[in-house]
Amino acid sequence: MDYEDRITQARAGAGEELAETSLRPHRLEEYIGQKSATENLKVYIEAAKLRREPLDHVLFYGPPGLGKTTLAGIIANELEVDIRITSGPAIERAGDLAAILTNLNDNDVLFIDEIHRLHRSVEEVLYSAMEDYALDIIIGKGPSARSIRLDLAKFTLIGATTRAGSLSAPLRDRFGVISKFELYTEEELSTIIGRSAHILGVEIDHDSLLELAKCSRGTPRIANRLLKRVRDFSQVKGDGRITKEITQSALDSMGVDEYGLESLDREILRLIIERFHGGPVGIDTIAASIGEERITIEDAYEPYLIQAGFLHRTQKGRMVSEKAYRHLGLTDDRKETAKSEEYEREEQIGCLDIQ
Ligand code: ADE
Repeated sequence: MDYEDRITQARAGAGEELAETSLRPHRLEEYIGQKSATENLKVYIEAAKLRREPLDHVLFYGPPGLGKTTLAGIIANELEVDIRITSGPAIERAGDLAAILTNLNDNDVLFIDEIHRLHRSVEEVLYSAMEDYALDIIIGKGPSARSIRLDLAKFTLIGATTRAGSLSAPLRDRFGVISKFELYTEEELSTIIGRSAHILGVEIDHDSLLELAKCSRGTPRIANRLLKRVRDFSQVKGDGRITKEITQSALDSMGVDEYGLESLDREILRLIIERFHGGPVGIDTIAASIGEERITIEDAYEPYLIQAGFLHRTQKGRMVSEKAYRHLGLTDDRKETAKSEEYEREEQIGCLDIQ
């Protein structure tokens, strides 16, 4: 199965961002989780409003599906300003960015998703826009060419990226606020699922909330997607209420196990166990063996497999844990000493992150 087709992939599918709109919170007080980011932002927003100034530029980084776009929308709502939403790959030329920037009003928010994918030439236009609220435009060609400076509205840029390490230092340094998004706890996810079920008008029992939260890989987008699919099962196979039995049979039918793992996740773990004796094995070898791109494994599979305790990232490569052996019904016959030596050399998760 393709990564794009998985029910538990964290990236939005075609049209999904739009479909998510009805489930998105609009105010900070409705937003669940990411406490350290939201509590500080609340202060910065209030201070900016008191001073009648734009909020400083904000960078959000972390795995996909954790609510970066949602929080950007909330910031604009709290500031009572307009938001313009675009993405790095959508801005092809410097002129496209200039057109967006010149249409902003004072204090407006410009949200650029996947900001690490901006073309270098476009990124350079952003530098003066962020720092001086100005655009330097070259008019003419050759010896008669001259540069003029165009003043812009005092806007706030909110950039989002899954790869903080891929951002150039000059761009990163121009953000005044940098917030890391963490995977959500099961408790936070069950609250989010309960809220979404309420908005969708579907009855769901406590056990199902917990079960779905457990399978959502720390990601609200996956939680809401699973909820919608389980709702389908409840309407067709049941009486419309989401019960524990319906939830379990729906998850089974979708090939999602009790930890939210799908076949490809299990394939990665099985590969490391059966071909590499549990690891350590290099990420490029894993990627080549299962026919996925390294970046997909690093961004989409690994964060959750690590957080859920199935995988370790050591200096020599990836290693599966005993929990992975148990989950796949296999026996871990590795030597305890070898394992603990490797675990000791475990890399800090997020070595690419901005600390
Ligand atoms: N829906 C998706 N993400 C959410 C969040 N963080 N809080 C509340 N509802 C959400």
